[in-house]
Amino acid sequence: MNISVTKLGKHIGAEVTVRNTAALYDEQTAREVLDALEEHTVLVFRELHLDDAAQVAFSRKLGEVVILGSSAARPGNPYPEIFKVTLNKDDNRIAEYLKGTFFWHIDGATDEIPTKATLLTARRIADDGGDTEFASTYAAYEELSAEDKQRFERVRVVHSLEASQRPVRPNPSAEEVKAWRARPPREHPLVWTHRSGRKSLVLGVTASHVVGMSEAEGRALLDRLLEWATRPDFVYRHHWRVGDLVIWDNRGALHRALPYDFDSPRLMHRTTLVGDEPIQ
Ligand SMILES: [Fe+2]
Repeated sequence: MNISVTKLGKHIGAEVTVRNTAALYDEQTAREVLDALEEHTVLVFRELHLDDAAQVAFSRKLGEVVILGSSAARPGNPYPEIFKVTLNKDDNRIAEYLKGTFFWHIDGATDEIPTKATLLTARRIADDGGDTEFASTYAAYEELSAEDKQRFERVRVVHSLEASQRPVRPNPSAEEVKAWRARPPREHPLVWTHRSGRKSLVLGVTASHVVGMSEAEGRALLDRLLEWATRPDFVYRHHWRVGDLVIWDNRGALHRALPYDFDSPRLMHRTTLVGDEPIQ
C-alpha cells in the first residue's frame, strides 16, 4: 500500500498519509485513494501543500477534471481547472454567489449528473470560523427505519438554483429571480441508488419541494430529513490548516462551510472531477 488510512468520524471521514509523496501520481496510489474515497467519503491529507500544477496532476489521476466558468479559461491562465473559492471579489468575481455554500448542499444537485468529487487545498485560512462540514448521505439512508426506507422509495424532489439562493438573498429583485429561474429546476428521486448498490439521500438547500405534496407538507419532510442527515453522528467537521488537501465524494455527502468574516483572506484552490453517475 502506498497510503495509510485512519478513520476520523463514525460514518464519514479518514485521514490519509502518503508513504512516499513521489508516489502520489502512481496509478496504484490513485486506485488506493479512490477505494478509500468510496469507503470513507471524505479524505484528509494534512499539510500536503500541493501547488496548482501538482493539484491538477493529482486530480487527473483520479478522474476527468472539470473546467469551471469562462473566466477560468481566459488566455494566459495556465491552470483553468483551478477554481478559487473565496469571498474576496478580487480573487473571484462570483464571490457573492458562494454565500450559498454556508448552507448544506450537494454540488451540482440541479444538474442531471452531479460532480463526482471535489479537491480543496487550503491556501489561506480564516482567523475565525470557516471550517467545512461533511455529512454522510449514505449513513443518513442506511440508518433510516425499514418503514421510512420503504416510504421514501418513490418520493421525488425538485431541486432548483432559486431554492438555493433564497436563503442567501431573502429579498431578491425581480431581475435576480429571473436570472435564477433561467436555470431549469430538476426533479430527482429522494433516494439515490448507486451503481455500487449503495443508497443515499439527495437533500440540501437546492431542494425546493416534494412532488405531489403540498408545499408545507413537503417543506416539513425536507427539513426533518435534512436535520436527520446532518446530526453530529453523520458529520465530519474539518478544521483547516494551511496546505491541507481534502477530497470528498459528492455522491455520498452533503457539505457546507461554517461562516467566516466576509473580509477574511480565506482562499481554497479547488479542482472538481466530472460526474459519471446520474441521480437515479
Ligand atoms: Fe459546494
